[in-house]
Amino acid sequence: MKKSFPLSKVYGLLEPGPVVLVTTAQKGRANVMTLSWLTMMDFEPPILGMVMSDQNYSFAALKATRQCVINIPTVELGTKVVGVGNCSGRRIDKFTAFGLTPRPARMVAPPLIDECYANLECRVTDAHMAKRYNFFVLEVLKAWIDPARKNPRTLHHLGRGRFVVCGKTMVLPSKKK
Ligand SMILES: Cc1cc2nc3c(=O)[nH]c(=O)nc-3n(C[C@H](O)[C@H](O)[C@H](O)COP(=O)(O)O)c2cc1C
Repeated sequence: MKKSFPLSKVYGLLEPGPVVLVTTAQKGRANVMTLSWLTMMDFEPPILGMVMSDQNYSFAALKATRQCVINIPTVELGTKVVGVGNCSGRRIDKFTAFGLTPRPARMVAPPLIDECYANLECRVTDAHMAKRYNFFVLEVLKAWIDPARKNPRTLHHLGRGRFVVCGKTMVLPSKKK
């Protein structure tokens, strides 16, 4: 069972830039794609910037519905993450093909992916740069986290199928002088 996660802490989930699974839904059909080009833009409400290519099937659904869920997977899901990013929802149902479990979100139509340790329900607040840069500004409306997952080891894409696995936490003093 996931528990609600404070919006004020969402930036900490994404700041290191983990590879994510983005779910969208259009006309009652959900889809999922892998995405690594994501950045934090503000603390609270959490605002994210995301680059999603218009070549992807997910792009049209995101542009039309202005909703998505950012699902954060851990290293255990690595093979599925790569598989989901190398095929299109135009042709297959990726939830069935990769054994991912969709769960209803609270504030948006696209589903949460149960296997991911955190899920962020988002709405598009600005698509002005979608035409030129495939860039969308998202606001996180609701965040979920699995409290049983203590040190989630996230994947960070280096390109060409190479990833850094993150998971060691360090606390360093940082006082402004
Ligand atoms: C590790 C990884 C990272 C990716 N990052 C992005 C990304 O940041 N933006 C993007 O548009 N596509 C990215 N992709 C490609 C999409 O996931 C891929 O084109 C996918 O097939 C699109 O699915 P769809 O057609 O069902 O939307 C990535 C793929 C992989 C494997």
